[in-house]
Amino acid sequence: MALLETRGLSIRFGGHLAVSDVDLDVEAGLVTGLIGPNGAGKTTTFNLICGVLSPTGGRVSLDGRQIGSLGTHERARLGIGRTFQRLEVFSSMTVRENVLVGAEIRQGWARFGHSEPPLLAAGGDPSLDEEVDLLVDRLGLGPVADTRVGSLPTGQARLVEIARALAIRPRVLLLDEPASGLDDSETHHLGDLMVQLATAGLAILLVEHDVPLVMKVCSHVFVLDFGQVIASGTPAEVQQNETVQAAYLGSAS
Ligand SMILES: Nc1ncnc2c1ncn2[C@@H]1O[C@H](COP(=O)(O)OP(=O)(O)OP(=O)(O)O)[C@@H](O)[C@H]1O
Ligand SMILES: [Mg+2]
Repeated sequence: MALLETRGLSIRFGGHLAVSDVDLDVEAGLVTGLIGPNGAGKTTTFNLICGVLSPTGGRVSLDGRQIGSLGTHERARLGIGRTFQRLEVFSSMTVRENVLVGAEIRQGWARFGHSEPPLLAAGGDPSLDEEVDLLVDRLGLGPVADTRVGSLPTGQARLVEIARALAIRPRVLLLDEPASGLDDSETHHLGDLMVQLATAGLAILLVEHDVPLVMKVCSHVFVLDFGQVIASGTPAEVQQNETVQAAYLGSAS
């Protein structure tokens, strides 16, 4: 059983079936890709997993527990972290303050018995400030730690959002186009970080149009088109799949 599973996940907006009978398995310790053309239903699938949207059919489970009736905050507390395709950062706050928000929320969960270890700290239990500094450094944001996020380029603001998501110590991290706005060097660094986080035990579900990045870091890839999974397999398998090439890769790579 995968850490995060969806089965038959579906949502209809009026007459439009945006996500249709989607089965995903997202394993701990791996980066799993979710790719497909614009409008395929990738962000909508994230919103269904997080509880931003309620499905018209199907279910979502985390570690064997059905979470479909839980609110977004409860799913976050159980370990589902995410970033947003359309950046959601606190623009008037500094980089460090943005990450601190995540860390303080996580600290507040202690009374619910939340006890996930930090993902990147090498042993021990860092203080709140130490953990924030560590995340800021690991995302390469040290030089801008005290800069207001609103004055950063989009690429760096995306990294802030990832650092804030990591501060809640998620078990599953949903990344919606994290490389959008990043330059080549930042994208390379992000790829290495995703692999490192997965090696530390995190389950990552990556939505990304940067196909070379997906092929480099993912162990398994699901391909969506018109709301349906049209293929899944290793990066090499989906790249060679003729249906996938016709629907997406022919134009994307
Ligand atoms: N709240 C909504 N109400 C109505 N239709 C919606 C809503 N959200 C998404 N859709 C539609 O559902 C479909 C899937 O959209 P979604 O944003 O999930 O695509 P996507 O795969 O993330 O695309 P992109 O690669 O462009 O981000 C689209 O046709 C979109 O217009
Ligand atoms: Mg999207």
